[in-house]
This record gives sequence, structure tokens and C-alpha cells, in this order.
Amino acid sequence: MTLSEFLASVEQLAADAPAQIAATATLDEWTAVRTALVGRQAGRITDLMTGLAALPKEAKREAGQRVNAVKATIEAALDARQAALEAAAQGASTPLDRSMPGRAHWRGAVHPVSQVIDEVVEIFRELGFTIALGPEAEGAWYNFGALNFPADHPAMDMHDTLYLGADQVLRTHTSPVQVRTLQQYPPPVRILAPGNVYRRDFFDPSHAPMFAQVEGLVVDEGVTFADLKATLSHFARRFFGAETTTRFRPSFFPFTEPSAEMDVRCGVCRGAGCGVCKQSGWIEILGAGMVHPAVLEAAGLDSETYTGWAFGMGPARTALSRHGIPDIRILYDSDVRVLDQFVS
Ligand code: PHE
Repeated sequence: MTLSEFLASVEQLAADAPAQIAATATLDEWTAVRTALVGRQAGRITDLMTGLAALPKEAKREAGQRVNAVKATIEAALDARQAALEAAAQGASTPLDRSMPGRAHWRGAVHPVSQVIDEVVEIFRELGFTIALGPEAEGAWYNFGALNFPADHPAMDMHDTLYLGADQVLRTHTSPVQVRTLQQYPPPVRILAPGNVYRRDFFDPSHAPMFAQVEGLVVDEGVTFADLKATLSHFARRFFGAETTTRFRPSFFPFTEPSAEMDVRCGVCRGAGCGVCKQSGWIEILGAGMVHPAVLEAAGLDSETYTGWAFGMGPARTALSRHGIPDIRILYDSDVRVLDQFVS
């Protein structure tokens, strides 16, 4: 045999082998193909090695290198095919465990406080309220003066204020949005103002230095306390359920007169008394009242023509009682193990 004849049969083998290996469908077929290709007794590589010995001495080097390269390629292909066939056989004998729980996808959740805000906004949106926002760094006049807090009056002590400068504060409530809205838009006004507020408090089970409030404001001609009561009672029934009863207690705020606080029957014990309502059977939900004439005048409105009512609620408190959570810090710790439980 000449060198070129020899090399031709090596290339023939290199061309045939991959398809033969790929065509094996079982381990038995694979064994047969392996024997035919690289078997010691009668494999085609072995035949070529025998042929190699008969070549002229000067041709052996080139022919041997080529044969060894083809052999290595074939052996690698055989190994890969064997692994694939073994894996397939393994899979076939291990049936799918249909009772095994699937792996859930990670899902984000709306924070329980945001859930309350969203629901409150939705209920008032149905009644024609729109959203108004104001700055968190607020002028002291908007936060206090325009809201009828007398200068240096003890009423200011109601709020432990964080001052940013002589005339600038971190707003202690969302009520300044009342003034900003009335300055900007002529009545009729029906707005809801959700946002964060700040007080110089330390974290404890029922206080946080920053928390959310939702403010509501209605101003028009002929608005009365009956409108306030009817609207807020409607809100309570929509939010807590049709069975919910409410009660209004007299209260005081510098910017409303008369002022009230609204309680709802504790949904956990239905009024019998429990830990969530501190045995009272009632849960305080919001502060409210008729907008003080001095506030309307401060915003540039004629308090003889216009009347209005306003309310402010703390959605974190509502979230706590709704879920029976004992400590407000749990809501503000951003612990994923807690937040995960509110995925809806
Ligand atoms: N701004 C009051 C507070 O922070 C709540 C309130 C708002 C009361 C509107 C009456 C009317 O406690």
C-alpha cells in the first residue's frame, strides 16, 4: 500500500465514524460500533495500525500521526455518546416525582402600609377625590401658622418637630397640603394627600420617627359636618366591611372646629375587647373636623362663602390592627421574612 492509499482509508474512517456513533440508540448498539471502530481484534483502527507497519519507513511518521489523531477523535466521540446514552437510560428508570412541590418564582409584594394607602385612595377615588401631594421639607408657616397653630402656643407641643432651619421643618403631618391645595385650586375641592411625615420620636412599639399619613379635604359651598360623618362612615364600611360600626368622639385640632376622632368596632374581637383594641372594643382610625375658618382665610378663601371638612389617618396603625401586628417596628424593619407574608 502506498502512503496516499493509506491516508485515503484513514480519511474514509474519519468521515464515517461520527455518523455511526451518533446513530447508536442503545448501549448495546454503542458497544457494537465501538468494537467495529476501535476493537483490538478486528476494529478499523487496528487494521490501519497493521497497514501502517507495512508502509515504507519514510512514510510511517506522517501516516502514524494522522491515524493517532483520528483515533483520539473517535474515542472522544464514543465517550460522549456513552455518557449521553447512560444518562438517558438513568432518566428512563427514575420516573418523575409528581408529588414534589415545584420551585416557586420569587414575587415582589406591595408593602402592607402601601396596601392600606392604595385601598383608601381607591375608595375615595370612587367618590370623586383626586390626589394632591406636597413637599416633605415644608415651610413652618404651612405646617403650623396657616393651620391656625398660634405662635409659641403649647399646641405646638402636640408635634415634636424636626427643624431644618428657622422657618423650615420636616412636615409633622400632611395637613399643610390642605393649604397648598386651596391656594392653588378654586373650590369645589376634593383631594386625598398621602405622604410621609416626621416627628422627633424614638422607635418604640407604637412610634416611628417617620410614618405615612393620608389626608383628606373637601371644600365647597354648603359643606356640613353631616357630609363629614356620612363620607367617613361610608369609607369605614367600604374599608373594614359592611358590618362595621363607627363612633365619633369630640377632639381638638387647631385647624378644625369642631374636631372629632373616628373609631371603628374592633374587627378582631367584634367589640368584646382584645389585645388589638386594648380591651376597649374600638380602634381609633382617624382625626377629622370642619376646616377652621382661619385656615380657609390663610389660603385666601372667603370663609363666609366656603366651608369644608378634613381628616387625617395613619395607615401604619391601620395595617397593624388589620393584621394583628403588635409592634410598628416590624412594619418598618424591611425584614423580607415578614414582608413575604403579605404577597397577595
Ligand atoms: N393632622 C392631624 C394629625 O396629624 C390629623 C388631622 C387631619 C386632623 C385633618 C383633623 C383634620 O394628627
